[in-house]
Amino acid sequence: MERKRVLSGIQPTGNLHLGRYLGAIQNWVKLQDQYECVYSVVNYHAMTMPFQPTKLRENVWELCYNLLACGVKPEYLSIQSMIPEHTELGWILGCMCSYGELSRMVQFKEKSEQVKEKDKDVFISSGLFTYPVLQAADILIYRADYVPVGKDQDQHLELTRNIATRFNNVTGKEYFQLPEPLYAELPKVMSTADPFRKMSASAGEKHNIDLFAPEEQIRKQIRSAVTDSGEVSDKMAPGVENLFSILNATGKPDVYRELMDSYHQGNLKYSQLKDAVADAVIDLVRPIQEEKQRILQDKKAVKESIKASSAQIRERARQTLREVKDLCGLA
Ligand code: TRP
Repeated sequence: MERKRVLSGIQPTGNLHLGRYLGAIQNWVKLQDQYECVYSVVNYHAMTMPFQPTKLRENVWELCYNLLACGVKPEYLSIQSMIPEHTELGWILGCMCSYGELSRMVQFKEKSEQVKEKDKDVFISSGLFTYPVLQAADILIYRADYVPVGKDQDQHLELTRNIATRFNNVTGKEYFQLPEPLYAELPKVMSTADPFRKMSASAGEKHNIDLFAPEEQIRKQIRSAVTDSGEVSDKMAPGVENLFSILNATGKPDVYRELMDSYHQGNLKYSQLKDAVADAVIDLVRPIQEEKQRILQDKKAVKESIKASSAQIRERARQTLREVKDLCGLA
């Protein structure tokens, strides 16, 4: 039987930190055993916010190296701009998506606020507005069955399904099947410096633990993690909960249980918890960092391999686009 298809995309912005790894990439790697996957470094999406060309190029390759170091298979990895059919399908789908639908996208509202706050002289690009249409094209061009995404992408996936339905209605053919979200039990990792906000690249260095940071830095960041304010409460403090959740997600269930027992008995020392988390994180990142060193020794070969996999994956995109154009009376 043919394997079901999975597609996901990641923006080449910011660094690869623990939150992104535990909340997405680790799962991408797992899914490769079971599905036919396409993972796209979506650089066209990264242009929707103010950007610098040199940085964009750097970020794309850096992210590719990082993803490979994490265990993403090279044959499943592609760079969006090497497959221009995404944008061509994006145009066609844009004509099947209403202005009103796009106006309701929460991410657009949030991101346009961000742009305004950062620099009032910078404009909000129309690309930011039509971004979800390109995302729909990313997904539909591979006729994906499943899209592993976080809850924040629900609305975009729903829109993708609406666009696919409209396409099928307009062309009178059940051409696109409707892609389903693929949720996994993934932790939402919070910033260790402020457990009330999500670990993120954009919030600044101290709010995320870089997967490729030196061991000492990782240890230091975890050691200085916010735990509780010393107030007596029968609810676990968010900072402590976050440390436990990291410990659980890094694959140390025994240590997790042991420390959780101590917590409930009221004799857990936070320094003990922090040391355990630091050890677990370092055990997790060490092989990934070693693999990255190996990859960096021959960047040229890696670039060639990603160009080749993108070309391979492009064949599938071409096929879909040919059929789509035919169905739309464009060819
Ligand atoms: N919008 C996604 C994000 O912000 C990135 C993305 C672009 C994506 N195209 C995609 C995710 C296709 C899944 C499928 O994280």
